Amino acid sequence: MALRPIIILPDPVLREKSTPIVRVDDDVRALVADMFETMYDAPGIGLAAVQVGITKRIVTIDLAREGEEKKPMVFVNPEIVWSSDEQSTYEEGCLSIPQYYEEVERPAKVRVRYQDEKGEAHELEADGLLATCLQHEIDHLEGKLFIDHLSKLKRDRVIKKFQKQAKREHEF
Ligand code: NI
Repeated sequence: MALRPIIILPDPVLREKSTPIVRVDDDVRALVADMFETMYDAPGIGLAAVQVGITKRIVTIDLAREGEEKKPMVFVNPEIVWSSDEQSTYEEGCLSIPQYYEEVERPAKVRVRYQDEKGEAHELEADGLLATCLQHEIDHLEGKLFIDHLSKLKRDRVIKKFQKQAKREHEF
């Protein structure tokens, strides 16, 4: 297992579309282990492989609170097959957009088809925070970020802020 550096806005990799996993093999499982280590270290509740620079359709999630037993969830090739008309709003953040939080409205419930770390197919119906988290992470696989759900004004403002930060770090 190894910690992997997290890709930060405005790195163009975050805008790439991730490709499906054809075979869930030991390489995939090794990447998943690295993703969990990186996610727990950050700390965060969800991570898409593209956020560590690997444009493959893999998502890790763990919604356990601090002090609770870990509940690692792996989603290979996740796909939303149904979403509710009912919406819900959560304050979202993203490890690729550190220290920025904003409320996002999304469908309150989703059904997701995916494979586990053994390659077995499953379907899961999620609501609450898990529904939001799954949609946020699956967006990443399409090169989409949660700020894309905000007004253009807010989005442009946060992108500009991170562009300035990246430029400053580049100068040093
Ligand atoms: Ni994110």
